[in-house]
Amino acid sequence: MKNFTYYAPTRIFFGKGEYKRVGEIVRSYGFRKVLLHYGGGSIKRSGLFDEVTGSLRDAGIAYVDFGGAQPNPTLEHATEGMKICVKENVDLVLAVGGGSAIDSAKHIAVGAKNDCDTWRFAMKEDTPKGALPVATILTIAASGSEMSASAVISNEKLGLKRGYNSDYHRALFSILSPELTFTLPPYQTACGVTDIMMHTLERYLTRPGEAAVTDRVAEGLLRTVIEAGRAALKDPCDYEARANLMWAGSLSHNDLTGLGRDFFMISHQFEHEISGMFPEVAHGAGLAVVFPAWAKHVYKRHAARFARLAEVLWDIREGSDEEKALAGIRAFEAYFREIGMPTRMRELGIGEEAFRPMAEKCTANGTKILSAIEDYDTDKIVEVFRLADAAD
Ligand code: NZQ
Ligand code: ZN
Repeated sequence: MKNFTYYAPTRIFFGKGEYKRVGEIVRSYGFRKVLLHYGGGSIKRSGLFDEVTGSLRDAGIAYVDFGGAQPNPTLEHATEGMKICVKENVDLVLAVGGGSAIDSAKHIAVGAKNDCDTWRFAMKEDTPKGALPVATILTIAASGSEMSASAVISNEKLGLKRGYNSDYHRALFSILSPELTFTLPPYQTACGVTDIMMHTLERYLTRPGEAAVTDRVAEGLLRTVIEAGRAALKDPCDYEARANLMWAGSLSHNDLTGLGRDFFMISHQFEHEISGMFPEVAHGAGLAVVFPAWAKHVYKRHAARFARLAEVLWDIREGSDEEKALAGIRAFEAYFREIGMPTRMRELGIGEEAFRPMAEKCTANGTKILSAIEDYDTDKIVEVFRLADAAD
C-alpha cells in the first residue's frame, strides 16, 4: 500500500426529508446571507426551489437568487455570480443541483475571494488564497462534487474544460436526500451511474500495487452501483436504489476508493476534451464512449487486473486472463448500452476530424504526457478515439 493522506471533511446530512432542514442547518453555522445557485430550472419544476427558499426564510436567512448554471457550466456565467457575491456581501454559496451547479458554485466562492478571476486556477497557473464557504443540496447522483475537492468549468471562448482541486472550495456540508433524484430522466440517471462507476474504476485501473482494502471497497461499490442502476431505471422511485446510488456517488469521488494506489483519471481527461469542445455531450455519456476504448487499448499488457475485475463484477470465469479481460470490457459496454448510454463516438455526433484536435488539447499541443496505467501522447490518444468509433 502506498503512503497517503486522507481528508474528506464535508459534513453529510443523509436521508429522506433532510433537505427541509436547510434553513436551520445554515443558521447553525452562523451564516446570514446565501447565494442560492442552481441549474436550468429542474428545481423549480419539482417544487424544491420553493421548499428551500421557504426553509431559509423560516430560519431568518436572507438569500440572493442566482440560477442558470448549464450542464457543463461556464466560466462566464460563474463570473457573474462572483460579482453578485461581492456586491451583496454573501457569506455562503449554496448550490442546489448536480455537479454543474456545484462546480459553478465552487468557482463563484473562490472568485469572490480572489478578484473574480478563477481561470488561472483551472489552468493550474496559480492556487486560490481562500474562498467563501460552499454547501450543497444534491439532486443527481453522479459527479461526487458534493464531497470532492474538485471543480470543473468550461471556458467557452477557448473551447476548453478544465478541473482543479482545492480544499478551499470543498463543500462544508452537503445534504443528500435520495428522493430528490426520483424526478431524473432515465438518461441523466444512466449518465450518473456511468460517472460514479468511472470515478472508482479509474482509481482501480492504475499501475500495479497492493491495496487490498481499497480494492475490495471499490469492487463492492461497483457491484452495488451496477445493481442499483438497473433498479433505479426500472423504478425511478425505488428509494433504496436511489439511496445506494447517491451514497456511492459521494464515496466514489471523495478519494476513499483509491487510497494507497496511484491516482490519475485518464478517461476523465479524454472526456473533458469531448464535452469541452461539444458542450451538448453529457459527461457520463462521453465516459461511456471513451472508457471501453481506452480499456481495449491497454488491457493486454495488464490482463490480470482486468481479468480480476471481469470475475468480480461480471462473473466471467472461463478462459485465459486475456480472454476474461476482453470479455469483461465487452460486459461494461453491454451494461452501458443496457442502461441507455452511447458507446461510440458517432452516437455523440463526433467524427474523425475532431479526434486529433481533441487529443492535442489533451496533451497541451504535445507538451504533456498523460500517465495512468501507461503513458499517453497525442498519437496514442488519437488511437483511443478511433477505437471509440470502431465497429465491434
Ligand atoms: O440544470 P437543471 O435544470 O437542474 O437540470 C439538470 C441537468 O439538465 C438535470 N437534473 C439534475 N437534477 C435533476 C435534474 N432533472 C430532474 N430532476 C432532478 N432531480 O440533470 C442535468 C444534468 O445535471 P448536471 O449537474 O450537469 O449533472 P452532473 O451531476 O452529472 O454534473 C456534470 C458536471 O460535473 C462535472 C462534469 O464534468 C460536468 O461538468 N464533474 C465534476 C466533478 C467534480 N467536481 O468532482 C467530477 C466529475 O468527474 C465531473 O467531471
Ligand atoms: Zn466524472
